[in-house]
Amino acid sequence: MSNQTPKAATPMNENWSPDSWKTKPAQQLPDYPDPAKLQWAEGVIGDMPPLVFAGEARELKQQLATVCAGEAFVLQGGDCAESFSEFGANKIRDTFRVLLQMAIVMTFGGVMPTIKMGRMAGQFAKPRSSDFETQDGVELPSYRGDIINKLEFTEEGRVPDPERMIRAYNQSAATLNLLRAFARGGYADLNEVHRWNLDFVKDSPLSERYEKLADDIDRALTFMKACGITGEKVPTMRETDFFTCHEALLLPYEQAMTRVDSTTGDYYDTSAHFLWIGARTQQLDGAQIEFVRGIKNPIGMKCPPDLDSDTLLRLIDILNPENEAGRLSLISRMGAGQVEDKLSPLVRKVKEEGRNVVWICDPMHGNIEKSASGYKTRRFDNILAEVKGFFNVHKAEGTHPGGVHFEMTGQDVTECIGGARAIKDVDLSSRYHTACDPRLNANQALELAFLVADELKDLHK
Ligand code: PEP
Ligand code: CO
Repeated sequence: MSNQTPKAATPMNENWSPDSWKTKPAQQLPDYPDPAKLQWAEGVIGDMPPLVFAGEARELKQQLATVCAGEAFVLQGGDCAESFSEFGANKIRDTFRVLLQMAIVMTFGGVMPTIKMGRMAGQFAKPRSSDFETQDGVELPSYRGDIINKLEFTEEGRVPDPERMIRAYNQSAATLNLLRAFARGGYADLNEVHRWNLDFVKDSPLSERYEKLADDIDRALTFMKACGITGEKVPTMRETDFFTCHEALLLPYEQAMTRVDSTTGDYYDTSAHFLWIGARTQQLDGAQIEFVRGIKNPIGMKCPPDLDSDTLLRLIDILNPENEAGRLSLISRMGAGQVEDKLSPLVRKVKEEGRNVVWICDPMHGNIEKSASGYKTRRFDNILAEVKGFFNVHKAEGTHPGGVHFEMTGQDVTECIGGARAIKDVDLSSRYHTACDPRLNANQALELAFLVADELKDLHK
């Protein structure tokens, strides 16, 4: 991938280089106290192999172009923040498994190919609303994700340490290695669809619905086998594509992972297949926008409620000047109460202006609240309502609802209130493990997948 001469300037990379973001005002970046150590860590990461290949990112972009055409759907999901302590093969497997379950529910129930992207293998850096956190009268810098500093509330722990980028790289590599094995090594075989059901989901009200769907798939597979169509002949029946994504926030890391693709001469950020710009770092002249405009990966941008349609169009001009289908996904996160009011004008304007985008619904980040007992939580009903509102907007505007973006885990956590198991505020303390935002547990995630499948089925009517 490296040691290639970059292609001559095209409209897209004119005046752009992997470090041109340094000339722009940057939000949310840590102030590393030791510049020499930062330079060393960037050098180490720059010498590491790429985590993903440019060809894979191009494949994802092509698949996303089919979403633009209304022919497929995106499922993005995983942790709010991966962490060094909550790392392990079982956790990766369980999240992967729930994503597979959700995707099969959407594909089979919704009759729509589903593109799977994990907020995994690189989702470490976190934007924060406040630079400081106060506990018992003590003020310290905020926790910014394990790739930057420690969650531990001590002065030493909160100092940004560039060496943590190397650990994050290594953990991402190990995670991705396992994900690739799961995706290609037989685990994702459609004949295994019953096995994806996690034990603690088995005795839930949803399990029956899932088992019924799995039985229907079994019957379809038996029929196909009788017709001579098997996994040996059709690889997509026994393996799957699984892509990775994270927020393009920590630019020293992203720059160090950016390489020239030897096939095309273009720059790709090889830390993940898909990178997105968060709600706090989308200033038109800001560093994150500058960085992302020059990489050729498919990219996303969050759309918060205060984003107006003129600014959105200017951002689209910068991020996707050639109006390439599959290049840009807009991930709206408006909040259940205002999704219809705030999203409709954006969708209408983008359609009127003929811009090719994928619309994705993040029903998580506009629905954060503090519970009576003091936990940062989300109500399942609000999450559900925002997903429904998103589908309603697209129905009304005649546009394609392209996907959903969830913070979820395969663990049986109690972080979001509600769902079929009716988690209450008093239950939150029992298994509240997130290092950042509250996640859906496997039951809640599956319940949402069924709702999405029902909405997708409706599109065919
Ligand atoms: C996130 O996706 O974890 C996040 C911080 O979202 P947003 O930028 O939309 O607030
Ligand atoms: Co989050």
